[in-house]
Amino acid sequence: MIFRGTDTTALLTEWVMAELVLNPDVQNKLQEELELVVGSKRSVRDSDVGNLPYLQAVVKEALRVHPPGPLLSWARLSTSDVELSNGMVVPANTTAMVNMWAITHDSKVWEEASKFKPERFVESMGGTNVDVRGNDLRLAPFGAGRRVCPGKNLGLVTVSLWVAKLVHHFNWLPNKENPIDLTEVLKLSSEMKYPLSAVALPRNLLLSS
Ligand code: HEM
Repeated sequence: MIFRGTDTTALLTEWVMAELVLNPDVQNKLQEELELVVGSKRSVRDSDVGNLPYLQAVVKEALRVHPPGPLLSWARLSTSDVELSNGMVVPANTTAMVNMWAITHDSKVWEEASKFKPERFVESMGGTNVDVRGNDLRLAPFGAGRRVCPGKNLGLVTVSLWVAKLVHHFNWLPNKENPIDLTEVLKLSSEMKYPLSAVALPRNLLLSS
């Protein structure tokens, strides 16, 4: 759990924050939602996350554009011949990998696939509420089936809460001396090749907790 649960959660938070710095309109909308639901007199709690659809959409969109586990697990061995819908056959005893990154960036599956657009997941903004927990294979960043990530709910709520707190308390701006570069590098998980550097300006909320 430590091996699989720590870097994924930290890296996804970093990817979300990088996209929020690059997309100030998204950051503003998120702050507006936080103001409406949480207000400015207290800090965000994990019980708030379920009432923040735009926040959830921002995290989903980061999972789509930068899935921390782009190949899901490293490899699987097929136990029998499997015929795919396109007629291709994966013979028994083949080592196979699922390229989730390719699916989440496929323009046949996603409109404006390269654009960071959380609205695509918010029904009230014309989007679709896609489930990312393994029930919709267009976006299954935690895998699916028997070996699906057992920490998916913890991972989602942790990243959502951290991002909400960071954005609730601070405005995040680009660091001109160290501009954001979204190049990915695959280590244990998919990381930012050049770690995020940004400027945080306190928002002067009257927070009591
Ligand atoms: C945003 C955060 C996370 C992402 C994106 C993520 C993603 C994944 C992926 C893609 C897999 C492989 C699924 C497969 O084999 O098909 C996996 C497996 C696993 N994850 Fe996560 N994970 C996250 C957070 C966590 C957390 C918080 C924990 C534990 C506290 C955790 C524990 C595990 C474990 C133990 C496995 C191996 C399961 C097995 O092989 O049966 N993960 N995760």
